[in-house]
Amino acid sequence: MRYETIHKLQIPKIGFGTWSFGGTTVEDRSSDAESLSALRSALDLGYIHFDTAESYSAGHSEELLGQAVRQSGVPREKLFITTKVSPEHLQFDDVLRSCEGSLRRLGMDYVDLYLIHWPRVGMKLPETFRALNQLVREGKVRHIGVSNFNLKQLKQSVALCDTPLLTNQVSYSIPDRTIVKNGVLEYCQQNNVLVTAYSPVKRRNVKSNAALSAIAAARGASPQQIALAWLITQPRVIAIPMSHNPQHQAENLAAGDMLLTEVEMEQLDQSISRV
Ligand SMILES: NC(=O)c1ccc[n+]([C@@H]2O[C@H](COP(=O)([O-])OP(=O)(O)OC[C@H]3O[C@@H](n4cnc5c(N)ncnc54)[C@H](OP(=O)(O)O)[C@@H]3O)[C@@H](O)[C@H]2O)c1
Repeated sequence: MRYETIHKLQIPKIGFGTWSFGGTTVEDRSSDAESLSALRSALDLGYIHFDTAESYSAGHSEELLGQAVRQSGVPREKLFITTKVSPEHLQFDDVLRSCEGSLRRLGMDYVDLYLIHWPRVGMKLPETFRALNQLVREGKVRHIGVSNFNLKQLKQSVALCDTPLLTNQVSYSIPDRTIVKNGVLEYCQQNNVLVTAYSPVKRRNVKSNAALSAIAAARGASPQQIALAWLITQPRVIAIPMSHNPQHQAENLAAGDMLLTEVEMEQLDQSISRV
């Protein structure tokens, strides 16, 4: 596994997403056994970074993740746990309450990374960061980040964060280059902010991109692995694919060792994905 070394931290290039574990927007306990088994499989395979949110299955994703970690016996300090505060909870007291809720559901006394999940029209970032900075001082949060922030919101966050802002978690994949066009990628790379790419392999057109298929065939890899490799070959970019399937989990983790050549990167940069 390759790592990003940033602000004295080593973060694996590939982490694990948990959207849809325990439900979607509402809690659904009917597949808890399968979800726990998939999370245990990810822990056993050696995933270290797990991404969840208070909104995922109304908090049940956090509960399942905490349960899986305890069952696995992997020491807490070996893991890197990210969770997120929802946009409707960005006022000072609400941020503190949300964090307490996440810690309780995870059964942990700190999270490694706490993100503002989405920006909200009219949000008062100075107030939100006052609470986030306090959580860091109290030791409940190790690092702060944001998610789905545009360049202006990101720069404002960097200025308001008492510690180096660790990441902007955004949609980034071969078919979705919004962060290239809006300047977020370049800003992050120039200012030591990680880009955490979400939904990196989800798109159906991962499978119908000629360059992707050709590189995958030539390397004896899957298109999803090459899609991940395209992301993590880029400096300051990590990815958090989600999978319930142990074989896919292993494949995605193995992509963490891949480094594409300049020619392959260029071919994928120029490629067109057909839906
Ligand atoms: N901050 C935000 O607003 C935000 C938004 C979206 C997502 N996220 C985070 O990012 C994580 C990942 O994004 P995502 O869940 O939207 O999409 P994703 O990880 O790109 O795609 C997940 C889908 O791809 C399949 N898959 C995964 N690996 C595969 C492989 N090697 N071969 C074939 N199929 C594969 C999975 O099916 P199987 O289960 O069958 O493998 C699943 O259907 C989320 O779980 C969440 O933690 C954050």
